Amino acid sequence: MANVVVVGAQWGDEGKGKIVDWLSERADVICRFQGGHNAGHTLVIDGKVYKLHALPSGVVRGGKLSVIGNGVVLDPWHLMKEIATIREQGVEITPETLMIAENTPLILPIHGELDRAREEAASKGTKIGTTGRGIGPAYEDKVGRRSVRVADLADAATLEARVDRALQHHDPLRKGLGFEPVDRDALLAQLNEIADHILPFAAPVWKVMNEKRKAGKRILFEGAQGALLDIDFGTYPFVTSSNVIAGQAATGVGLGPGAIDYVLGIVKAYTTRVGEGPFPTELEDADGQRLGERGHEFGTTTGRKRRCGWFDACLVRQTCATSGVNGISLTKLDVLDGFETLKICVGYDLDGKRLDYLPIAAEEQARCVPIYEEMPGWSQSTEGARSWADLPAEAIKYVRRVEELIECPVALLSTSPEREDTILVTDPFAD
Ligand code: IMP
Repeated sequence: MANVVVVGAQWGDEGKGKIVDWLSERADVICRFQGGHNAGHTLVIDGKVYKLHALPSGVVRGGKLSVIGNGVVLDPWHLMKEIATIREQGVEITPETLMIAENTPLILPIHGELDRAREEAASKGTKIGTTGRGIGPAYEDKVGRRSVRVADLADAATLEARVDRALQHHDPLRKGLGFEPVDRDALLAQLNEIADHILPFAAPVWKVMNEKRKAGKRILFEGAQGALLDIDFGTYPFVTSSNVIAGQAATGVGLGPGAIDYVLGIVKAYTTRVGEGPFPTELEDADGQRLGERGHEFGTTTGRKRRCGWFDACLVRQTCATSGVNGISLTKLDVLDGFETLKICVGYDLDGKRLDYLPIAAEEQARCVPIYEEMPGWSQSTEGARSWADLPAEAIKYVRRVEELIECPVALLSTSPEREDTILVTDPFAD
């Protein structure tokens, strides 16, 4: 397979970092195609820890091209800080190793401010629990056709016109929220200052990507967040503002849909969610606490405690379908070690009716009562297992049942954060 898309198949935080790093070592081009610095990917390479938010994971490996595609929303000030931190760790980042699509919309300081103000003003039940990074307002401006995009930074007159257009919308909105109007000249000065740092990385990414594809280069599309946070197919309105599902990989860099050869879904052996919104299998008891503690379930970007619950096979079957997942990477199986009984959600009871998928309305989602199937747990440790023979029979049965229920095979099984602690069934890049 030449080109592989990695997508989170739950609510994000499925453990994409390790898998993406493993795949990026063998890829020629690694690209981000949606989201922004709301993502948090931790990579551990030769004992060194790299924390990435906006940069594709490929940047920490020499000889690769990393790409930020047009499907992303980019905070240029954050990006330059992240580049500086990674450079301090001894990694070289140059316009030869990092390219940013010229048509990428920028996240401006007003977007973060608006995001946080809305969240603060929201009442219980309407709060989204965003990362406060301005992602939603920046995407709103994109579809509202008033974004400042990377290419606009190249020309002072164009930049002024774009800023004025954005402020025509934002100033009245800010007034309504009790904010001062934007200091236009200060914003322009900030943008002109950052332009010199960003523009060297700007490139016609769609063209470069098509050339790379023609040349037979291996492309890895690095998804952020998870398919249940997708703007169309997620638990709307408690979602992020981009399309997270695999189809976006092509659109988000300027390739045709045929460019995708294999979709790898990353799936945690249980379920977690950060932020607000329905979560049918959530556990607010000792079992939930145990999953959180054993799984170190704290957000990489915001440090927030993640909500934890049993594995929801209905949801994952759904996300495997909407992303066309060819195989999954099942992560954190070891967190389930020592549970006497494990539960898997196989359907929902909604007002007395059995459903085998999550209904679309948030109100109905909130009323869905999970129908569980129980399986015996295992007492042995699965941490660090590197072959099926290292796993207890009950753990293998659990994995096989997951495959059956989600209607998708396991390609990789990850049993610890260490890269070698992986059982490989199918190599997504193999021909
Ligand atoms: P936003 O993307 O900051 O607008 O946040 C919208 C929702 O997506 C919130 O529930 C966030 O907690 C969630 N979210 C955003 N990025 C991530 C991520 O990388 N991992 C997990 N959840 C995320």
